[in-house]
Amino acid sequence: MGKWMVFSAWPYINSEPHLGTLLHLITADYYARFLKGVGEEAISVSGSDEHGTPIEVEAMKQGRKPVELTDEMHKKVLELLKQFSVELDNYSRTDNEVHKEFVRDFYLRLEQEGYVFKQQTIQLYCEHDKIFLPDRFVVGKCPFCGYERARGDQCENCGRLLEPTMLIDPKCVLCGNTPVKRQTYHWFFDLPRLSDKLRAFVAGLPENVRFFSMNMINEGLKPRSITRDNKWGIKSPFPGSEDKTIYVWMEAILGYLSGVKELELGGRPGLFEEYWKSPDTKSVYFIGKDNIPFHSIILPGLLIASNAGYSLPTYISSTEFFLFGQLKFSKSQHVGVWASEALQIADGEYWRYALLSLRPERGDSNFSWADFQKIINNDLNDTIGNFINRVLKFVSEKFDGVVPEQRQLTTDDKEFISKITSKKREYIDLNYSLKIKDAVKAFLESGYIGNEYLSGQKPWDLIKRDYDRACTVIYNSVQTVNHLGFMMSPIMPVKSAGLLKQLNISKFTAELKWEAINPGHKINRNDVSPLFSKIKIKKA
Ligand code: MF3
Ligand code: ZN
Repeated sequence: MGKWMVFSAWPYINSEPHLGTLLHLITADYYARFLKGVGEEAISVSGSDEHGTPIEVEAMKQGRKPVELTDEMHKKVLELLKQFSVELDNYSRTDNEVHKEFVRDFYLRLEQEGYVFKQQTIQLYCEHDKIFLPDRFVVGKCPFCGYERARGDQCENCGRLLEPTMLIDPKCVLCGNTPVKRQTYHWFFDLPRLSDKLRAFVAGLPENVRFFSMNMINEGLKPRSITRDNKWGIKSPFPGSEDKTIYVWMEAILGYLSGVKELELGGRPGLFEEYWKSPDTKSVYFIGKDNIPFHSIILPGLLIASNAGYSLPTYISSTEFFLFGQLKFSKSQHVGVWASEALQIADGEYWRYALLSLRPERGDSNFSWADFQKIINNDLNDTIGNFINRVLKFVSEKFDGVVPEQRQLTTDDKEFISKITSKKREYIDLNYSLKIKDAVKAFLESGYIGNEYLSGQKPWDLIKRDYDRACTVIYNSVQTVNHLGFMMSPIMPVKSAGLLKQLNISKFTAELKWEAINPGHKINRNDVSPLFSKIKIKKA
């Protein structure tokens, strides 16, 4: 058993999260719950990424202060997350004081370590708006892949990191004019100096992350600018840089550290060092594939350069995109399903189950309403829900709510017990290897096995002619409900709490040991009711 830090990418809050963003938050919440459930020590952190150009641009459009927008959105996001049962240990925001101070101290330290330099740069200046145009204030053609609407910081199409001046035929996003080049100066992070150390680090990453990152190193790392001319952001701490702010990515990524610091300051003394500086700590980052270079190169680069003994990412679990009728989810193009829309269609926990079981781990996943409906109705309701309800109703009606004793085990029973036990083991192992989609599948398969057992053994017939057999079959089925409950609890925590109540127990057992609920135990008969119900989606 060890210590784990579980992280999800911090969503921008220039608009409400959509399913693609929720996925990472739900996965982090799921994973932290799983770890805690098997007895690991874990903390989970994420938050709102509040700075950056999109928010500044949005605020300008609405004629409001950026902070008014982010206050409002952050509150809204917190409410939404609650409805998806996402309860991280700290869901913070990047405009908080602890983070701002942490970031400024961090960069001063980096400067002391010799990894920061100031340089004259040519930058795009809009003569109409009279400002230097930072990253996303410019769009143009990607110099690598030719994508027409690449942003000044990164190409959405090929994922490469860009600088605004690299764009071909750049345009100001505010007025559409072609900006001119002007001289200014910025502070840079000397990333190339870390190439060898990063190569060694990247070599240990999973294939989908390693391939992309190794390519980046081999193409030659470039210094990354730390400062921007944005007004909305964290004030740059370097002497002489007072009119600049820190580039949003270069500070938000440090939220993984400051967010733990905040937990410490919130009443857990020593927590920060215990987690961030212990060689035994494991960390896992749930992100989308467009976030890879920041987590596989920039973050580890910053951590190494700080020379402060921070532990490097252990696992970076990156997913492909959800496609929505062939199209990628996109905020700017309004393709996809947004959080509040999703909640009008189905319970937040149904979404957790569906998103985790569709998690695009190996390739882009198509999201269709027909599939979603099938997942809820066939998998959740007919397989898992029906099994549990059939068993608990049987205990209530035929055994006065008391779990019967196990009598003689037949070969069928033994085979059944071993199948469920190995599914549970599989579920645990798959989670540890971050094959979450498959882990969720093992949960569903346990439901199939359970139903097959019930249909084969027919306890409703047995009770009339072979009471002992009926007892044994129901006893085994009740144990299975516990094992299913254990697998279900990180997926659907609220539904699982409901099941605990029906069972009249305080927790599901994580152990593989078959007997978790003793014969003679009385369940809450009056609470027994179906956990799920079918949904009907008009669009499907
Ligand atoms: N805000 C970014 C996005 O939505 C992710 C930032 S991850 C962080 O793509 F860790 F840097 F915050
Ligand atoms: Zn490109």
